[in-house]
Amino acid sequence: MKILLLGKNGQVGWELQRSLAPLGEVIALDRACSGGLCGDLSRLDELAETVRRVVPDVIVNAAAYTAVDKAESEPELARTINALAPGVLADEAQKLGAWLVHYSTDYVFDGSGETPWRENDATGPLSVYGRTKLEGEQAVARCEKHLIFRTSWVYAARGANFAKTMLRLAAERDQLKVIDDQIGAPTGAELLADVTAHAIRIAQVKPELAGVYHLVAGGETSWHAYARFVIDYARQCGQPIKVSPPAIEAIPTTAYPTPAKRPLNSRLDTQKLQSAFGLRLPDWRQGVERMLAEIFDR
Ligand SMILES: NC(=O)c1ccc[n+]([C@@H]2O[C@H](COP(=O)([O-])OP(=O)(O)OC[C@H]3O[C@@H](n4cnc5c(N)ncnc54)[C@H](OP(=O)(O)O)[C@@H]3O)[C@@H](O)[C@H]2O)c1
Repeated sequence: MKILLLGKNGQVGWELQRSLAPLGEVIALDRACSGGLCGDLSRLDELAETVRRVVPDVIVNAAAYTAVDKAESEPELARTINALAPGVLADEAQKLGAWLVHYSTDYVFDGSGETPWRENDATGPLSVYGRTKLEGEQAVARCEKHLIFRTSWVYAARGANFAKTMLRLAAERDQLKVIDDQIGAPTGAELLADVTAHAIRIAQVKPELAGVYHLVAGGETSWHAYARFVIDYARQCGQPIKVSPPAIEAIPTTAYPTPAKRPLNSRLDTQKLQSAFGLRLPDWRQGVERMLAEIFDR
């Protein structure tokens, strides 16, 4: 099997380089263009040409415009990378009869209610990022053999993410304010990559499994409780933490205005994925503890 991986150095892309390796030959690209191959999702013609040259059996697209706030002032670039480029990949994959695997987000929903979102629930993105990711999903579905994994709150030992920002701030400041009314599940890039590899294997023999799936770790939390969890763990590991537990203040979203509006309810129901692919998704704390142990070399 020949796999074309795009976005190889992102949080998820990095882990996919590991998890996809046993499945076959992996041609992994970052945004650089060299040797006749181009992994830059803003260069649509060269991207299409790259797929034609590689002739993959599977394309895994881990590249995306993920700067949620910045997207509000760069809507066209965000749309090119998150919607038009996935469309190019879909059309090329369809011509080849290849699979296209793509990642999307809880930000396609409007965040209302308290029930975990199911795959067929009505979407209603609140931000440019969410709208471009939704358009990307629709484009990817032009390829018959597609797998779209909607995930949330991604973290990894490598790369920038909320947990690592909290660790840095907790070491620098004696007070922190963290939002407590957005609810979701921190999901490890390792888990996403491992489930992706498993799903690709199964989908090869069960093409009827093509579709959209919610893929997040088990359980739920708020950003505030997540920050507390990460900082408590760091303190137990003897890390130099300045902020005391009571000084981590819970604040509502309204007290922390950002250019992009974020959904309050980011819960995703993963039943469809678990039953289709025969998987169990571990509690979010398991993967977060593992990442922290790696960072602290425990
Ligand atoms: N991060 C989250 O919390 C989150 C939540 C829900 C869904 N997702 C989705 O999960 C997927 C993976 O996200 P992630 O967390 O791994 O993101 P990430 O760490 O930000 O990685 C994104 C990758 O895309 C690359 N990229 C950006 N613009 C590009 C371009 N024009 N051409 C080629 N590559 C480009 C980046 O390269 P550079 O490093 O060179 O910029 C980076 O390697 C994305 O589809 C994202 O929308 C993420």
